[in-house]
Amino acid sequence: MPIRAIEFVRKLRGGAQAHLMKAEDGHFYAVKFQNNPQGRRVLVNEWIAHAIFEQLRVASAKVMAIEVTADFLAAHPDISMRNHTGVYRPEAGWHFGSRLAGDPNRLGFYDYVPDQLLKEVVNVRDFLGALVIDRWLANADVRQAIFFRAKIKPWAPSVEVHAAKVGFVAMMIDHGYSFGGEHWRFDDAAGYGLYHRPVVYREVTSAASFEPWLGQVMHFPESVLEAARHSIPPQWVAGEDDVLDRLLHTLVQRRRKLPELLALSSSYHTKPFENWQG
Ligand SMILES: Nc1ncnc2c1ncn2[C@@H]1O[C@H](COP(=O)(O)OP(=O)(O)OP(=O)(O)O)[C@@H](O)[C@H]1O
Ligand SMILES: [Mg+2]
Repeated sequence: MPIRAIEFVRKLRGGAQAHLMKAEDGHFYAVKFQNNPQGRRVLVNEWIAHAIFEQLRVASAKVMAIEVTADFLAAHPDISMRNHTGVYRPEAGWHFGSRLAGDPNRLGFYDYVPDQLLKEVVNVRDFLGALVIDRWLANADVRQAIFFRAKIKPWAPSVEVHAAKVGFVAMMIDHGYSFGGEHWRFDDAAGYGLYHRPVVYREVTSAASFEPWLGQVMHFPESVLEAARHSIPPQWVAGEDDVLDRLLHTLVQRRRKLPELLALSSSYHTKPFENWQG
């Protein structure tokens, strides 16, 4: 069930023209509307991708269906989007929310951090897991993450540190272009899914460097995909159930291509894996 938006904070950057809102659960969400300029399907893509990130324990923003009521929209005339024909408004209904890991008035969230800091991100290995997932889902975008300071333990359980110790963590966001965004197809270009800073892939030498995630995808429980598919707010899928089912069927079939797809990433002209031996 969705939770209601109770406060509009500000507009966010990006092609989907998300809006930052506080919801009745006390959390803040980057909300992408059903009629966002990237299309309704990106909401479905975000939802499915999130379930996969969660199953593989790669840090990713929690997701929620956010109800935006007609009264709320009437009270906030600034909530609007823009396309080539001009300004338009979302409709009341259930939209997609990507949860912030804290209150943005108290905690700093950074879209980019310098390489020196990236090296110190406690869960920097999660970028390897993210690439496995992005290649599997044919995310037709570059990888995006948000950085902030937090207690290390919940974000990097295998790191031996005191429970109270704080560090810089990365959380993956924006999976909207999985399945080619609104195209719902699997295009496998070399640059897709890569993070723009090669430093996160320093330890990559071959496809084996992407374990345990690679093996986990090969044995991915179809029940998790089923559960994700059936928890999508039905309005987001309306009329496209069969297409979505076929898409997910193809997804399961294409897992075996993953080692090849990771090798394709290595061939990208920016040479993202400086220590690649193949
Ligand atoms: N869960 C989150 N936590 C913190 N910030 C977030 C979160 N989700 C989104 N944001 C912020 O909102 C911005 C836009 O979100 P996002 O990248 O998902 O939207 P988009 O419109 O799909 O972007 P793009 O143009 O890259 O496709 C991000 O760059 C980030 O600053
Ligand atoms: Mg983005």
